Amino acid sequence: MASNTLFPFLLILLLLAQAHGVVKADTLLIQKTCKNTNYYKLCYSSLKSDPRSRKADPKGLAAIMIGIGMTNATATSSFLSSELIATTNDTVLRRVFKECADKYKYAGDALQDSLQDLANDLYDYAYLHITAAADYPNACHNAFKRYRGLVYPPQLAPREDALKHICDVALAIVDSLNSF
Ligand SMILES: *[C@@H]1O[C@H](CO)[C@@H](O)[C@H](O)[C@H]1NC(C)=O
Ligand SMILES: *[C@@H]1O[C@H](CO)[C@@H](O)[C@H](O)[C@H]1NC(C)=O
Repeated sequence: MASNTLFPFLLILLLLAQAHGVVKADTLLIQKTCKNTNYYKLCYSSLKSDPRSRKADPKGLAAIMIGIGMTNATATSSFLSSELIATTNDTVLRRVFKECADKYKYAGDALQDSLQDLANDLYDYAYLHITAAADYPNACHNAFKRYRGLVYPPQLAPREDALKHICDVALAIVDSLNSF
């Protein structure tokens, strides 16, 4: 009789402990993964805010980070081609904004390619494509240096850093996949 009434209680306790254990393990994996990167806070908060991270393995966490980079690159590309370009009628400046919008779009494309590489377990190619994505913001920045008198818009600097840091984190995670 006593064991009969105790059983559901124990079962619930067991389930609770299990559920709790799962949650803790995910946080631990994210922490462990992010410790190997140069931007722990960016890594941790980005992965933590994506619900898919809860069930992701290290490869899945890499894919989530790459996806965040794609969103970021695309957002900056449209910021350039819609908002910044609307601030000027200067032909040269408009051309450079357009060129920059293209570079950020290519960065997004390269990250898309790296997702495909990752899915095919081609980690070296994934690494190369993320490296390329991280370099496209430089091509934009350099375009401003080509023309005398053009000023690099202050709104672009934090966006340039954001994408580079995301790529840096993604690179570190992909790099760590080889040791799993
Ligand atoms: C992405 O880009 C925006 C700027 O558009 C930036 O403010 C944001 O912090 C970036 N980072 C992430 C992880 O989304
Ligand atoms: C660009 O030129 C148009 C037509 O001359 C003018 O109405 C508009 O205000 C100008 N825009 C800027 C940002 O100077």
